Amino acid sequence: MPAVPSAPTSELPPPATTSATSSPAFDPNEVTVIFVLGGPGAGKGTQCAKLVQDYGFVHLSAGDLLRAEQARAGSQFGAMIKEYITEGKIVPMEVTIKLLENAMRAAMSSEAGEAKEAGASSGVKGIPARRFLVDGFPRQMDQAVKFDETVCPSSLVLFLVCPEAILQERLLERGKTSGRDDDNAASIKKRFDTFIHTSMPVVDYYRKQGKVVDIDSAKSIDEVYEDIKRGIAPVVSSSS
Ligand code: C5P
Ligand code: MG
Repeated sequence: MPAVPSAPTSELPPPATTSATSSPAFDPNEVTVIFVLGGPGAGKGTQCAKLVQDYGFVHLSAGDLLRAEQARAGSQFGAMIKEYITEGKIVPMEVTIKLLENAMRAAMSSEAGEAKEAGASSGVKGIPARRFLVDGFPRQMDQAVKFDETVCPSSLVLFLVCPEAILQERLLERGKTSGRDDDNAASIKKRFDTFIHTSMPVVDYYRKQGKVVDIDSAKSIDEVYEDIKRGIAPVVSSSS
């Protein structure tokens, strides 16, 4: 196993505020965060893409951000990320949280820029309200606690529930064309194991906070999406 970095290095730009006593980097009044969780192959990415189209969410997939960082020329984390992903293990949270926070900040500043260009500067003080779908995160309790404390508490957790046999079938099918290092039988088994033992406690943690909406994702893509639209309605209408 590669050495776990104790802290992010200068390669990834530092977050604005992360001291123990600081408040989250983003104000929950200005930012709506929905976590999208579920086993590998549950359809998180597919459903997020539909929500982006219909609601203008910014979709941030932790797995996609990690794969992009892995592929980035010169990344000092590339080899480490590849090993964790192939083993189905959770990458040390410092790396993933920083990638997410940087992506949120980039989305918000490009939005602010667009608003100004459109002549809306009088109504835009600093950063405008923004909705984020954070897909495949948090996957481990330390990530959940740290993100809530230092980045932004989530408004809602969509939990896509699906039997393992169906997930396995979907992942093996996807593996024929995905080119992913972890869509093979050996990695899939490890990912299921991590999901049950490491990620389910996160769902239980948010369930105790009353934030979890369970979605049966064994159904067809369109049926799942209808259920999701109903599930997010309270959060979307109150923040629009
Ligand atoms: O979500 P996705 O299936 O794309 O994630 C692929 C892999 O990325 C996971 O199995 C894990 O190794 C890594 N990952 C992580 N922490 C996250 C999300 C993904 O370590 N929060
Ligand atoms: Mg995904």
